[in-house]
Amino acid sequence: MIDVKKLRVVAVAGARPNFMKIAPLMRELHAHPSFEPYLVHTGQHYDAAMSESFFQELGIPEPDANLGVGSGPHGAQTAEVLLKMEQLLIREQPNAVLVVGDVNSTLAATLAAVKLHIPVAHIEAGLRSGDRAMPEEINRILTDAVATWLFTTEPAGSENLEREGVDPERIHLVGNVMIDTLLANLKQARRLDTLERLDLEPGGFALLTLHRPSNVDDPQTLRALFNALEQIHREIPVLFPVHPRTSAAIERLLGGAPPALRLTEPLGYLDFLRLMADAKLVLTDSGGIQEETTALGITCLTLRETTERPVTVSEGSNTIVGTDPGTILTEARKVLAGRGKTGRVPAQWDGKAARRIVDILERDLGDRR
Ligand code: UD1
Repeated sequence: MIDVKKLRVVAVAGARPNFMKIAPLMRELHAHPSFEPYLVHTGQHYDAAMSESFFQELGIPEPDANLGVGSGPHGAQTAEVLLKMEQLLIREQPNAVLVVGDVNSTLAATLAAVKLHIPVAHIEAGLRSGDRAMPEEINRILTDAVATWLFTTEPAGSENLEREGVDPERIHLVGNVMIDTLLANLKQARRLDTLERLDLEPGGFALLTLHRPSNVDDPQTLRALFNALEQIHREIPVLFPVHPRTSAAIERLLGGAPPALRLTEPLGYLDFLRLMADAKLVLTDSGGIQEETTALGITCLTLRETTERPVTVSEGSNTIVGTDPGTILTEARKVLAGRGKTGRVPAQWDGKAARRIVDILERDLGDRR
């Protein structure tokens, strides 16, 4: 039986980078006496290594619903989440919907909710790369334009929203839920035998991730990146857990010839955290990894021309190096020579962001009851 006095919140997660953000939010919602949370997995990511392992390792409750949308072109994937979320929200009648990050599932769930006059809380709002060729940038702009609560991770996020004309009362700088998860799991990750299993020494390897369409969907860019990375690998082992999109691109665009690096399947959260914490250097085009390395004080070189997370550069350990092979090599050699950036941890990246978010939601939704 539904307890009518409780606030019903539908939380939505769909793709790998959503899971570490939803974990602390689910924990806080469940622990709070005012809330009755309901978790939706859209099924955007579905492989065990891209989804299930995160639920297990992070203790995320079994989703109450799985929309099973799977892969597909952007229009089809977004439309399917929209269609199925609308049906689900009509059935469940929540007081609010909570979305995280910037993936297609984030935007689609937001659209479904606002059209039904259900208020949306966007966690990790306000980030802007300025590059509208990134699908995530479109998802960010549109989600923020219609969400009710905009929870930001860094001052630039709040400033971007104010510049776009958002009422400052809707903007809440609360810190970073992904860092809540990192801090909650670091001790456990450090106990794993990940380095031994992969035959790596602490501080004796580089860790690479690569999956952005702009980097992996063009054969020339991908080949040039691999050339630079192969040179770095001659100086320090480069471990490369390969994202399914990238694996498919290697097959399709490079005739199945993998780069001469240390390749592995995608890794679980804890193994990957252990590796980040002990890497000499991280090379990535991910958004989240720029923040995680900043929280760990591990040098990060970002293989993109822009970042939507500028605090990782101004305060943290991140440098934007772009995709020019010469620049990547020069910057990597600086790190290997001991001149890597370590930085400091931004304000409020303290493990308590989810608590702040849930308190604000309780205050505002409680008023509306
Ligand atoms: C999505 C997000 C991106 C995020 C990334 C992390 C969007 C627009 N992009 O990109 O922001 O950084 O997730 O992984 O939402 N695939 C599998 N198994 C899976 C999932 C995907 O094999 O479990 C393959 C499919 O071939 C699919 C391709 O990977 O076509 C890409 O998946 P998709 O969800 O479309 O986008 P990502 O590149 O993963």
